[in-house]
Order: sequence, then structure tokens, then C-alpha cells
Amino acid sequence: MKDLKRTKIATVLKTPEFGSIKTICGWVRTKRVSKNVAFIALNDGSTIHNIQVVVDLEKHGEEIIAEIHSGASLSVKGELTESPGSGQVVELHVHELNLLGKADPDEYPLQPKRHTLEFLREKAHLRFRTNTFSAIARVRHAMIFAVHKFFNDKGFYNIHTPIITGSDAEGAGEMFRVSTLDPKNPPLNEDGSVNFKEDFFGKETNLTVSGQLEAELGALALSEVYTFGPTFRAENSNTTRHLAEFWMIEPEMAFYDIHDDMDLAEEMLKYLIAYALENCADDLAFLSQRQQNEEKNKKEEDRSPMELKEKLLFVLENEFERITYTEAIDILRNSKPNKKKKFQFPIDQWGADMQSEHERYLVEKHFKRPVIVTDYPKDIKAFYMKVNADNKTVRAMDVLFPQIGEIIGGSQREENYDTLLKRMREMSVPEKELWWYLETRKFGTVPHSGFGLGFERMIQFITGMGNIRDVIPFPRTPQNAEF
Ligand code: 4AD
Ligand code: MG
Repeated sequence: MKDLKRTKIATVLKTPEFGSIKTICGWVRTKRVSKNVAFIALNDGSTIHNIQVVVDLEKHGEEIIAEIHSGASLSVKGELTESPGSGQVVELHVHELNLLGKADPDEYPLQPKRHTLEFLREKAHLRFRTNTFSAIARVRHAMIFAVHKFFNDKGFYNIHTPIITGSDAEGAGEMFRVSTLDPKNPPLNEDGSVNFKEDFFGKETNLTVSGQLEAELGALALSEVYTFGPTFRAENSNTTRHLAEFWMIEPEMAFYDIHDDMDLAEEMLKYLIAYALENCADDLAFLSQRQQNEEKNKKEEDRSPMELKEKLLFVLENEFERITYTEAIDILRNSKPNKKKKFQFPIDQWGADMQSEHERYLVEKHFKRPVIVTDYPKDIKAFYMKVNADNKTVRAMDVLFPQIGEIIGGSQREENYDTLLKRMREMSVPEKELWWYLETRKFGTVPHSGFGLGFERMIQFITGMGNIRDVIPFPRTPQNAEF
């Protein structure tokens, strides 16, 4: 095997050193053979752009070129020269060519043509090799980095919260069980129920739905912390915005009230968008073009009113609207689609939970900018949210985005021990299991707040992808855990 010390295509294209000798490795996107040269478009994933590789057929033989097809892997060494062709500045004239791995054109599923996203979901092991999915992977990486940079620069500490937990933070009961008991023959109690005392942890355990409760423990000592981890929900919702396994960014801050919480959420979202615009320009340009092509096939009413970059700038440049749930319900109740019975879930009274159609109406039609809704009825929110003086609403705040609906859910937390205990009892949250959470309100309690940003929903927004299954490499959804 010849020396593989290679230069990445991104590096070569950024500042091409014409006349230099470089080794480049990658996968073949396309091959075109003319009289005595072959042109190969090679991509190594370091950029959306391919490099054009020019192979002299007389020098290298037609046999090897005949074996090179889309999907094959190559290592090529040659001279970087200015490209006479349009569409690229630089090309590589090959001195040495190594076919590292062949790809049989009759079997390789990714042909140089447009494949549907549905088809590519079934080929998730290879879809990284398409322009769309490599662009999304790079944007996703940039956003992970930006999240850590944002919080680090503000003096927040990242804490790892557990993935296996004994408590249901959201109280929604949509958890995946973690157990080593034999499902066919579990140890039983006298009453016939499963005896989890004999299970691995000596109690019932699940995959976490949120790192919030543990993040609160961190905030109540370190002041400002965040957790960024995988979360799991066994809700059977087959929508374009739900995954059974998704990643959530959850900051938790001592000495923050709900207004400070909203300020931080807005600042973070804008920071992430600005970071993407600055650092992912090539990928966003590609994704924008992709979206515009898709739009052409859509019905008028499903079309996105804005081009991708325009949409991102729009969020960046506008202040988010802040309204209470009560105000939101008034707007919705009197809205045209509600009166004309166009909503799938009509809004008739205060207390109704908002669906994404309502959230999107507020954002896209009414205010035409992101909206933060606060002070929801306590009955439709989690037990840990601070109860308002009216004893009817809680200090919740949801950030609603165009295309997505709810992108962030958060609140000021109930810091009063007695009120929290009362709420837990009202909502049948097992206080015995959460004794440690309650103790923080007994010892040096302080006002504090936090929120959760669904990372994949953010990536959907930034990349313009319509289905959440396309912004995580290996989606987990009902009936689907391949790869
Ligand atoms: O509103 P949620 O359920 O809030 C919490 O879990 C709180 N513990 C957060 C906190 O205050 N620390 O979820 C937060 C966000 C939602 O706004 C949404 O963006 C995302 O997580 N999310 C999902 N994303 C993908 N698939 C799902 N099934 C999701 N469920 C929630
Ligand atoms: Mg929520």
C-alpha cells in the first residue's frame, strides 16, 4: 500500500497551491470518460464540494478506469492545477492512482441521481455519502460545538446527568424500562407483581426523559449549568417532529426568574443561528438550493414563504414576541381558521392544550416572528413549574418557531418546599422517589429557572429539513430501530 498521508479536499480547495503535489482520498461521486482522459468527481466529506480528478487514460490504462464507479474509494496523488473547465477553480492531475475499494454499480444503491428522502432512510448506512446528509452532518456538528461554546463563554458548567434513572421527570409516564430481569420468568411478589428489588438496581429504572431534575441539583451549587444529552420518550407519535431518542440541551440557572430564562433562550437561539450562518455557509447554500427545488413540487399552501437564509436572518433580526397563554388563547379563539373550523383541534375554551397547528398559526400568520408563550394553566404542565399567585397558572415558557412549533419548553421552578410538595401530591408524583429533589428546597432554596431545547428540532429549523428523521443519523421511531 502506498503512502496515504493525505490532504483533505476542504483544505485543498480553500487555498489551492497550484503546482504542488498532493495526495487526496475519497469516494467517487461521478466519473466521465472522454477520448483519452477520465474526469472523476471525488468527495471526502470535509466539504460539500468535490474535487475534479483528471486521469490520463494512456498513462494509467483504461482497465482501472473501467473498474471505477460511483461509490468506489480512491487514493490519488498528483499535481494541483488551475482548472480550465467551468464549475471549479482547481483540479488534480493524477500521477498515481489507487483503487482502495470497488463499488459494484449493479449493487451500490446510491446512483448519481436524485433519491427520495424515504429511500435514503432505508439506506441510512450509506446516506452520509450524499450531499444532503453530509451537509446536515456537518451543520449538526457545528451546532454541537456552538452550544458548548455559547455556554462555556458565559461561564456555565456542563454536567453529565444520568441516562438511566428511577424517576419520571416530566411525569408523563412515557418511559422505556431498563431491566436485566428475565421477561419470561421474572421474580414475583406475593401479590403477583414483579419484584424489582431483585432487578439490577434493586428498583424500577428507565431511560431518562430529561436531565432537568439532576441539572437543578447542579445549579443549586454551581449557579449556572447545562446538560446536553440523549433523552428517550416512548410516546407513540409518528410525526415529523418526534423521535423516541433525541438530544436535548437543558440549561439550569440559580437566581434566574422567568424573564431571565426567556432572555437566555432567545440569546442562545440567535447565537446558534448566527454561528451557523457564519460557519456553515457552503452547506446552508446547498441546503437552501435543495429546499427551493423541493418547494417546486409542493402545493401552494405547503410552500415555505421564505428562502432558508432569509428565514434564519429573519429570526436573528427580530425580537421574539412574548405573550401569555391567556392572550394566545384569545387570539386563537378569534382567529379565522378557528371560526371557519379549519383547525383539526378547535380552540373553544381556556385550559385547552395548544397543538402545533395553533403554535404555527401564532408564529407564521399572526405575529410573523418567533413567539414565547408564558403562564400556562397548571393542569397541562409539569409538577416542578412555579405556581403563579392566581393559583391557576404556572411560570412556564414555551418558545415557538416557524415550521417547527415548540422548539423550547422551560419554566421558573417551584422553589417553595410546601407548594412543591402540594403540587406533587396533586399530580400523583411519587414524593418518596424524589426525596433528593425535595431536599434542595429544604436547604438553601433559591429562585431558579431552566429550559430544554430539542436539538433535532433546532437542526430541522437551521437546515430546512421537513422530517426530524433526516436530521439525526440513525433515527429511533416507533417500529424502527434499524442500523
Ligand atoms: O417540553 P419538554 O418535554 O420539556 C422538558 O423535557 C423539560 N424537562 C425541559 C427543561 O425545562 N429542562 O421538551 C423540551 C423540548 C421540546 O420543546 C422539544 O423541542 C423537544 O424537547 N422534544 C422533542 N424533540 C424530538 N422528539 C420528541 N419526542 C420530543 N419531545 C420534546
Ligand atoms: Mg413541552
